[in-house]
Amino acid sequence: MIVDKELFERIIKKKKKLDSLRPFSKASLSRLKENFDVESTYNSNAIEGNTLTKSETKLVIEKGITIGGKPMREYFEAINHKKAIDFIESIVTEKKEITKEIVCKINWFVLDNIEEDEKGIYRLRKVHIEGASFVPPKPDLVPEQMEEFLEWLKENQNKMNIVDFAALAHEKFVFIHPFIDGNGRCTRLLMNLLLMQKGYPSTIILKAEIKKYIRTLDQAHLDNYAPFVNFIARSIERSLALWIDALRIPSESDEDEFISLAEASRLCSYSQEYLSLLARKGKLESIKKGRNWVTTRKAVREYVDKNKGKL
Ligand SMILES: Nc1ncnc2c1ncn2[C@@H]1O[C@H](COP(=O)(O)OP(=O)(O)O)[C@@H](O)[C@H]1O
Ligand SMILES: [Mg+2]
Repeated sequence: MIVDKELFERIIKKKKKLDSLRPFSKASLSRLKENFDVESTYNSNAIEGNTLTKSETKLVIEKGITIGGKPMREYFEAINHKKAIDFIESIVTEKKEITKEIVCKINWFVLDNIEEDEKGIYRLRKVHIEGASFVPPKPDLVPEQMEEFLEWLKENQNKMNIVDFAALAHEKFVFIHPFIDGNGRCTRLLMNLLLMQKGYPSTIILKAEIKKYIRTLDQAHLDNYAPFVNFIARSIERSLALWIDALRIPSESDEDEFISLAEASRLCSYSQEYLSLLARKGKLESIKKGRNWVTTRKAVREYVDKNKGKL
């Protein structure tokens, strides 16, 4: 197992908690989806250089409004990404096995109206990734490596733990770089497909964390997998926490309710700055909501209990 053990246990616990809240109310689910579609489209496209803001992205995908002063390409990227999300959701609902056709179709959606000649087909040209310490395989090796990749998915989907599986699939895919463009967006969509097939909410790699994403991905390409796997693990944990927060039935003395680090620091002897450091390092169970870290009363209590002897 590559993922950090403690982090993995937290994920499993959160997944159980989420499952205990099933069946989810239709209204909450559709609110979650609406929000997710915007967040995911905004972040995934922004990582690849799209300049639409989150609210512009929302206008485009919910109302089909074009944004004055922004290139049509960015408009299509938003529309396309939303269609690709709906497509992968239909694959999950229909319980389909992942095939070459499905992977190519995801790319077809992502590049529709943008790369008309090369959308949805494996690349026929060499590619170079700026800043990367690896060179993707030559085009004639792509079909074979993608076959192996699809085999690997089939072989490991019920063997490997979900976190390692989702993260390694992401890394392998982007390493092959099968398409002329859109590989980043496709691999994130594909990872979400794998997560959803296992009953996990889809997850979002935040634009704000792009440096960490690229750095850890590059390390993974050099066979140092843990930083990237744990990066993805944190992102999965975040999605679970957001879903639990949106779906739970609130009660008064709610130990699972999100609180700010300022409030958390009042519950213990640590400063807000120190709690923020613990949050960033993943030592205190916490997630980033908007620009700020949030935690829960329970997480603070557990951290304090665990580290009592160490002070
Ligand atoms: N320095 C790097 N090291 C490793 N992987 C990288 C690096 N830079 C980019 N990548 C990967 O390549 C993706 C970009 O590939 P690209 O085909 O242009 O996809 P998209 O068009 O969706 O941006 C990034 O999202 C990331 O997954
Ligand atoms: Mg690109």
